[in-house]
Amino acid sequence: MTEKTALNRRFFMKGAGATALLGSALGSGVAISTANAKGMGHASMSMAYDLNEEFNRIGSGDSKWDGVRRNNRPYDVPFPMGVADMDFRTLPHITEALMKRMGHQNWGYQPGPADYYDNIVAWNKDRYNQEVPRGAILNCLGVLDGVLSILKLYNTESAPVLIQTPGYSGFFGVIRNAQFTAVENPLVKNRDGRWEMDLDTMADQIDEHNIKIMLFCNPQNPTGNCWTADEMRAMGDLCIDKGVLVVADEIHCDFVNKHAKYTPYANIGEKYAMSSVTLKSTSKSFNLAAQRVGYMFSNNEEMIAEIRRSGHQRGSLNALGMIACNAAYKHGRTYMDDMQAYIDGNCHFLERFCRENMPDVKYSVHEGTYLAFIDCSAVADKLGDPEGDDRIGDMLQDFFIQKAGVNLNPGENYGANGVGYMRMNLGTTHRKLHGALNAMKAAIDAI
Ligand SMILES: Cc1ncc(COP(=O)(O)O)c(C=O)c1O
Repeated sequence: MTEKTALNRRFFMKGAGATALLGSALGSGVAISTANAKGMGHASMSMAYDLNEEFNRIGSGDSKWDGVRRNNRPYDVPFPMGVADMDFRTLPHITEALMKRMGHQNWGYQPGPADYYDNIVAWNKDRYNQEVPRGAILNCLGVLDGVLSILKLYNTESAPVLIQTPGYSGFFGVIRNAQFTAVENPLVKNRDGRWEMDLDTMADQIDEHNIKIMLFCNPQNPTGNCWTADEMRAMGDLCIDKGVLVVADEIHCDFVNKHAKYTPYANIGEKYAMSSVTLKSTSKSFNLAAQRVGYMFSNNEEMIAEIRRSGHQRGSLNALGMIACNAAYKHGRTYMDDMQAYIDGNCHFLERFCRENMPDVKYSVHEGTYLAFIDCSAVADKLGDPEGDDRIGDMLQDFFIQKAGVNLNPGENYGANGVGYMRMNLGTTHRKLHGALNAMKAAIDAI
C-alpha cells in the first residue's frame, strides 16, 4: 500500500466533520432497561453507536452480502457495494423498541404506535419544513408498493410511464409489473459533470406517448442530484400543462451532502403539491428495508382518498415495521446528522482517490443519496469488447468482482444512457470503502 493510498482516517474525519459527532455519540451511551410492562421480556442495551464499527452482516440471509457472495461463487466478494442498503448497525433506539415488543409474546391484531403519524409529520416539518397533511398519509409496504397502486389507479389508458434516466432500476420493474412500458427521458451531463433535465425532449415524449404519469426521483438515484426548486418548477409546469401526474419518490431525502440541499417537490408551490403524490420511508435512512414500511401523502387529499378507495388497503402494517419506523423518526435526528456527515466524507474520499490514484474512474462529489454513479468507460475501453450477449456493464461487473472482490451495479440497469457507468454504494465504513478502492486500483493497474 502506498503512502497516498494508505487509510487516512484524518482525511475522512476532516471531510466528514464526523470526529466530534462520533465522539459525542459514543460518549453518550447509556444502558437502558427495556423491561417494565408486565409480561415483557427483559433486555438491556446501550444507546451508543459507532459508524466506524466493522459490523458483520454475513449470515443474516440478506441480499447484499449473503446473496451476492452466494451468486458469485467461487469468487470471494469482500466488498459488496451494489444493493442499496447500508452496512451500519441501525439506530439503537430502534433495536430497543423492537426488543421491547418482541418480549411481549403475543401477536394479535395491533394498530401502529399512537404517535406514529405525529412522528412522520414532525420529522418532515423539522428537517425539511415540509407540511405533511396528517389526514392524507397512506401506509405502504415500501415505496414501490405505493407506486404500484398509483400506477394501476391513474394510468387508465395504459399509456407508457415516463422516467428520467439514468433512473432507479426498480422503476422499470414496477412499471413492468403494472403491465405498462417505460419511456426513458434521458438526463444529459453538462460540462461540469452534473446530469441535467431535458424538458424539450420530455414535452415531445409526453405528446407522442400520451403520457399520464411520471415517476420522479428526488434526490435522484443513481445520479445523486438534489433537484433545485427552479428545475422542479420548470418540469412541474410542463407536467401540469400536459395533465401529467408527478409521482415524487423522495425515499433518499435524508441523505444530502454538505454542499447540497434537498427541496421537497411538494414545497415548490401549491399547484405542484396539488398535482403530485410523494412517497417516503425510513428504509434507506435507518436501514429498515426488510421491515417493508413506507408512506405516501399528497396535499390533494381527494387523490389520497381515491387511492384508498381503489383498494390500497394498508390501515395497519406489520407491527414490528411500524414500531421501527416510529422509533427512527422519534429518536433518530442526531444519528441521521452523523450519517450524513459520514457519507459526505465517503464521497469526498472517493473523489480524491479517483483523482489521485485511479484516473480511469471518474467521479465528482454528488449531492444526495449514498450512491455514486462512477464513470468507468476508460476501464471498459481497456478491457475490450464484452463476450456474447454481455453488456459493457456486465463485463465491468465481472471484472471488478473477479479481480477486486468488489460488486458494483452495471450502469445499463438504470437506462440506455448509463452505459460505461457503474453504481457504487457508499453506505459502508470508511475502512471498507478504502479497501474496495485499493482493490479496484490494483485490478485496473494490472490490465
Ligand atoms: C429511488 C428508490 N425508490 C424506491 C426504492 C425501493 O423502496 P422500497 O423497498 O421501500 O419499495 C429504492 C431502493 O433502492 C430506491 O432507490
